This record gives sequence, structure tokens and C-alpha cells, in this order.
Amino acid sequence: MSDLPNRLVGAIDSDRHWGQLMRMGAIGSVEQTGVDRPCLSPGDREARRLLIGWAEAAGATVSVDGAGNLWLRHEGTQPDAAAVLTGSHMDTQPRGGRFDGIWGVMAGLEVLSALHASNLRTARPIEVVAWTNEEGARFTPGCMGSMAWSGDTPLDRFASVRDEAGISFGDALAEQLALESDLPRRALGGRPHCYVEAHIEQGPLLEAAGQQIGVVTAIQGSRWFTVTLDGASAHAGTAPVSMRRDAVQDAVRAITALNHLTHDPDDILRFTVGRIVVSPNSSNSVAGRVTFTIDLRHPDAATLTARGDAIADTVRAAVTSTAATVTEVFHAMPIDFDATVIDAVEQAAVADGASYRRMPSGAFHDAQFVAGICPSGMLFVPCRDGISHNVAEYASPEHLATGTRVLARTLLALANG
Ligand code: GLV
Ligand code: MN
Ligand code: MN
Repeated sequence: MSDLPNRLVGAIDSDRHWGQLMRMGAIGSVEQTGVDRPCLSPGDREARRLLIGWAEAAGATVSVDGAGNLWLRHEGTQPDAAAVLTGSHMDTQPRGGRFDGIWGVMAGLEVLSALHASNLRTARPIEVVAWTNEEGARFTPGCMGSMAWSGDTPLDRFASVRDEAGISFGDALAEQLALESDLPRRALGGRPHCYVEAHIEQGPLLEAAGQQIGVVTAIQGSRWFTVTLDGASAHAGTAPVSMRRDAVQDAVRAITALNHLTHDPDDILRFTVGRIVVSPNSSNSVAGRVTFTIDLRHPDAATLTARGDAIADTVRAAVTSTAATVTEVFHAMPIDFDATVIDAVEQAAVADGASYRRMPSGAFHDAQFVAGICPSGMLFVPCRDGISHNVAEYASPEHLATGTRVLARTLLALANG
């Protein structure tokens, strides 16, 4: 029996890992424990530079592709072999936590640091990727980096997407790439041997069961829509209610109808309106325009398709005085992960003596798009009270250390197997 896995996990430094993660969490820090680090923002740039420095100190070769995805490579003894890939994202929700996304990148970095410290070469190269714009909070939709890389959506389709300040994704990306012109540019796309993404669970199951690792088997599907209701702004004191084209009142009607459409007695379908923009947004003006977002999720493709396809007609039937435009802006089909990768994660948990369960993911991840290119899987660690997309998000150093060790064992087995 090889002692390589023990050598590798013996070189994992959980204090260094936690310290680096907290250092990252200080960039864009809000409300003591939270982080607001939008994609391609000054904070994101600072975080990327920090990561690049740490990766280079760990002997990795750093490069960037045309979508701004950042690649950290530990060379294998067979450099031409397809790499084993891990990673996640560095951008956050506007009031996000210190763990969502960034932990998967930092766990990958810690594995590279441990490989370096133990002077260990794997047969296949191991690469860590930080995908651009997973959250979709600044530029809609999320997963732009992995969608462009995997060929799901051409990169130029995202160029004209604008943030709230009117800055286009194309311009922000060009600026980022210029700032990182010291890095070798790598072609967009590829065919890794396999992909394993480490992430906090973002739900309550592992903690409730007292288990350390989630061996992720699948990701449910997601569809995002933007609804715009165009009415007419008017004076709140003088315009008779019967004559108004009030976009807020129609938004209430539309959302109520959508709640009926998406009602699920089994509580499996997820329907969220998380953003409402009212114009002119003034207390004594009737709203002339409302734009709201819809996030719809279900593990079954047929259900997701049927309910999602009914959204536009439901909105149009519900509104009484505004013109409704419904646009689908994101579509990630439900996926099942690859049995080989699922088994590799499970065997790594067993080898580490970690308690685990197999489970699907309710959140989407870049792995959903990478899975179309190479055998893929994920591992989860518990997070306190299942809270995520919230400044109170927390995962303990002990759980993260276990997750990093299990990731290291998984990557080693896949890279040498
Ligand atoms: C990812 O951030 C998601 O919304 O599932
Ligand atoms: Mn995430
Ligand atoms: Mn997230």
C-alpha cells in the first residue's frame, strides 16, 4: 500500500489554510464576518493577485484564459497527460460570506502547497481553476467563466451585459486581462481528465446529521428570468387609480400568480424573486417601470421545463395595465455526476476516516457546466445552520481541514490512477 496519500495529507497545513482563507475574507469585508467582492471589482483584482502570489510560492505555474478564468498548475511526471482539475469561484454575493466559492479555490491551493512542501509529483498534472463570475450578482447570469470555457455559451454573448453602473462585462474583462498581461494567456477550453469541486454545503443536512463530508451526486436545474413591466409614471396625488398604469401593482399581481404556478406541496420546486427594481422609485410617483428577477429550480428536467415555460404566459395573464417582457437569461439543466468521481470522493472520505453521506446539490456550481466536458463531481463540508448567501455564513477550521484532506486524497487518486 502506497504511503503517498499520508505523505500528502501530512503536508496539509490547516493553520496556513485557515489563515489564507481569512486573509481573502478581509478583501471586501462587510459587517464583520461578511464579504462583498463582486466579480472583476477592485477587491476581486486584489484577491486574484494574492492568490497568484501564493500559487507561485507553492511552485505552481499561473495562467489566465480569455474569460478571465485563473489557472494554477502543478506539473505532473506526465506533463502531456490530461490534468486533474479542481477549483471554484472567488466572487461573492453582495452580502455574502467568507466561504462560498473561495473555499474551493483555497482548498485546491492548499493541495498544491502540500504537494510542493512534500516534494510530491503526481503522474497527471493537477490544476486549480478560479472561474470568473459564478455568482452572477454583478453581471447576469452566473457561471459565465465555466459556460464560456465549456462551450455552453460563446464568451462574446456576455460582452454587452452591464452592471448597475453601466459598465459592460466586456470592458471589465478587458481591463482585468490587461492588468494580468504579465501572466501567460491560455486557450479558452480544454479537456481535463476529470474535475472535482470542493464547496461548503450551503444547506443544513450535514450539520444536522453530524457528518463531515457530502459526496455530491447531482445538481438540480436552474432557470433565471428577467421580467420588465412597462406602465406609466404619474402623480400619486392627482392620477385617479382607475386611470393608472402602475407597474408596482402589476408586479404584485404577477408575483402572486407566479406563486400559484410554482406552488409545490412537496416543497421541492424553488421559486425566488430576489431583486425588484422600481422606477422612478419615489414615494409620491406611480411606478412607471418595474423589473424583477425569477430564480426557478428543480431536480427534474421535465418539471423545470414545464413550469419555466409557463412563466411568460402567467405574467402576461396576470398584469392589467402594463406591457410585460419576460426574458430567460440563464438555463442550467439538472445533471448527475460521474460515478468514477463520486466513488473517488467517497473512497477518499473513507480513507480519511471522515463521516459522509451522498447527497445532491441545491445550489448551482461551475461543476454543472464542466460536467459536460469531463467526468466531474463535488464534495461538500458542513456550514453552520446551513446559512449561505449571508454575512453569517460560517464553516469551522476543523471541517475545512477535513474537506481539504479529502480533496487532496481524491485528487491524488485520480491523478495517479
Ligand atoms: C450559486 O450561487 C447559486 O445561486 O446556486
Ligand atoms: Mn458558490
Ligand atoms: Mn453562491
